[in-house]
Amino acid sequence: MRATVINGRDVAKKQYAKMSETIFELKKKNITPCLAIILAGDDPASVGYVSLKERTAKSVGVDCRVFRLPADVPQCEIEGLIDSLNKSDDVHGIMVQLPLPAHIDANIVLELIIPEKDVDGFHLVNSGKLTNRMTGITPCTPRGIMELIAETGCAIAGKHAVIVGRSMVVGTPLALLLLNADATVTVCHSKTVDLASYTHTADILVSAVGCKGLIRGDMVKEGAIVVDVGNTRVDGKVWGDVRFDEVSEIADFITPVPGGVGPMTIAMLIKNTVEAACDKAQ
Ligand code: GUN
Repeated sequence: MRATVINGRDVAKKQYAKMSETIFELKKKNITPCLAIILAGDDPASVGYVSLKERTAKSVGVDCRVFRLPADVPQCEIEGLIDSLNKSDDVHGIMVQLPLPAHIDANIVLELIIPEKDVDGFHLVNSGKLTNRMTGITPCTPRGIMELIAETGCAIAGKHAVIVGRSMVVGTPLALLLLNADATVTVCHSKTVDLASYTHTADILVSAVGCKGLIRGDMVKEGAIVVDVGNTRVDGKVWGDVRFDEVSEIADFITPVPGGVGPMTIAMLIKNTVEAACDKAQ
């Protein structure tokens, strides 16, 4: 195999080691960083992600309170909960696990979280800050991807970064982060004609579509950095967007699925919470 595999679990561990000193300092001031997670419904993937976030947070000394609500919870109840968590002095981060049940307006709910506690970075204030190159809270998966790219030791400035997928959770904020790091950025999506003609010119290729095996070896430039955000469950097994066996023979760096981006998303959620606690303590 040509490519170096970027192990997200190892990179996440390094992040936790860096965070532990900050958490220790906060605890000396009687502050325990605390993340509140709202989970509505029983979507199996969401239930699994939330349990993992809760376990991981607690394992590094961050308090985590999960509010598990029934799928038919009225929107006003979620709104009331967010209001009380906004006002709670010992809660530093609030996140609402997506997707929400269909009867809930996610845009309204997400805007109710005060920007200082919006550890997912989805609030318009935080996305506006990202757009304007101001300091705010950065969405977790894009932030984690930037750390994985940094791990390669390769410079980003001047590189052509191609992102496949334009979601508000990954593709769009990642495009801004890469642009702010002086990459030339192309965002491809479901209406892009001839996807391979773009991916083939990518020095940095990130696929965040959720389509098993979308990225073939013949779509990748030799020596590229390839980041796979895909997470598609088929018959109990998790698959990425990238055909690992083929692409690892062409690329210089590749992230695996599982064990690539996933652990970094959780690490950045916890990091955003610790930073929110630090900001409040100042
Ligand atoms: N569902 C899938 N990914 C995410 C995420 O990063 N944040 C939230 N809140 N929900 C998600």
